[in-house]
Amino acid sequence: MKITMIGTGYVGLVTGTCLAEVGNNVLCLDVDARKIEILNQGGVPIHEPGLAAMIARNVAAGRLRFTTDRNAAVAHGVLQFIAVGTPPDEDGSADMQYVLAAARDIGRRMVDFKVIIDKSTVPVGTADRVREAIAEELESRGVTVPFAVVSNPEFLKEGAAIEDFMKPDRIVVGADDDRAIAAMRAVYAPFQRNHERLLVMDVRSAELTKYAANAMLATRISFMNELANLADALGADIEHVRQGIGSDPRIGWQFLYPGVGYGGSCFPKDVKALQHTATQLGRPLGILGAVEAANERQKLRLVEKIVGRFGEDLAGRRFALWGLAFKPNTDDMREAPALEIIAALVARGATVVAYDPVAMPESKRIFGDVPWLTYAALPMDAVAGADALVVVTEWKEFRSPDFAALRVALKEPLVFDGRNLYEPALVRAAGLEYFSIGRR
Ligand SMILES: NC(=O)c1ccc[n+]([C@@H]2O[C@H](COP(=O)([O-])OP(=O)(O)OC[C@H]3O[C@@H](n4cnc5c(N)ncnc54)[C@H](O)[C@@H]3O)[C@@H](O)[C@H]2O)c1
Repeated sequence: MKITMIGTGYVGLVTGTCLAEVGNNVLCLDVDARKIEILNQGGVPIHEPGLAAMIARNVAAGRLRFTTDRNAAVAHGVLQFIAVGTPPDEDGSADMQYVLAAARDIGRRMVDFKVIIDKSTVPVGTADRVREAIAEELESRGVTVPFAVVSNPEFLKEGAAIEDFMKPDRIVVGADDDRAIAAMRAVYAPFQRNHERLLVMDVRSAELTKYAANAMLATRISFMNELANLADALGADIEHVRQGIGSDPRIGWQFLYPGVGYGGSCFPKDVKALQHTATQLGRPLGILGAVEAANERQKLRLVEKIVGRFGEDLAGRRFALWGLAFKPNTDDMREAPALEIIAALVARGATVVAYDPVAMPESKRIFGDVPWLTYAALPMDAVAGADALVVVTEWKEFRSPDFAALRVALKEPLVFDGRNLYEPALVRAAGLEYFSIGRR
């Protein structure tokens, strides 16, 4: 199939590449000429495990191309996926300008039947707005061209995006047009060969499903974070509690890890956008307001513990920070807890030496060249002479450090673990003082 991917970011690039991998002919469009230039020179603008090799393979096979040429992009695919950003607007609603601009780009140029697929996370009712935008453009050209609009929200996780796309738990398709549904079944057939995973529903339900999934996951995280803080106060161990509840199949193991709060490009903005929609309809979701507030507090939980140990004034202190990305296996720092933790430490006069296996270039891009934030080439280099180690992202390489070496390298033997990576007794046995999120 000929497929156009509009927007070549995390979702568009992974989706386009995976669709090429199963034999489709994919053209990826982006308005960011720099991104397309990197891709056309053989580079990859994001860090995603396995992606670079898969891109190279499909480019070499002639099935995957990148362009900034809207005419070529619209002419190419019967299927036009829209995978552009939907960042939060000032009022928390999803900013739809990029989605609607992409829709108009299609409407201005299409000359034959197209299926336009909203893959971006978009508020309920967006498919109608996309349809109207395209219809308006066709009308102003004085032409009638058939088209269908489909909602096909994406559930991939950064860091495991290829695996998620190639082996999806479910594929949600919101559509009311038989031709479009048939096209979606065909394009997703290679990804569900052992059993049917495609859920066809009405468009509004599909749009709401994506927000419901992220809101539920964010709720579990905030619930566990609040419970961990309570465990701290009670002298209970949240790790035992986690195991005690996770073993209940009605609850399950996923997303029960307390930490320094959720970040990333999806949960924060999607929780806000769903809340905005609900509030506009006079049905605010009280539970989501609490989830968000708990998350904001949690991002500073580790700093509270640091201040509890050192006092408010951190002038002259230097902290080693392990992990900048909002989660492991990605260089994405959008809404990362590290951003707030660094800002809070620096505001109290401290400096930070950070290490992250892949996100340091992104951090340099965000913070620029500043005296209060420097970078280390290796985790142990960051720690040397620091007043404490602060663990923010649960990268695998942080899971089993040499505690005795840490004890020697640190100026003060303190570990503030925002991800509960370590066994408290083990850390303490090495002569380190250990602070966690809700562990005894
Ligand atoms: N990142 C994730 O893990 C994830 C997972 C599921 C769903 N989503 C959703 O997918 C959407 C995209 O997210 P992302 O993380 O890939 O965003 P991103 O910012 O990484 O990529 C979006 C890309 O779209 C491009 N773009 C903007 N307007 C355009 C236009 N008119 N034509 C062509 N390109 C255009 C931008 O230049 C950018 O490269 C969002 O709605 C997001 O909520 C993201």
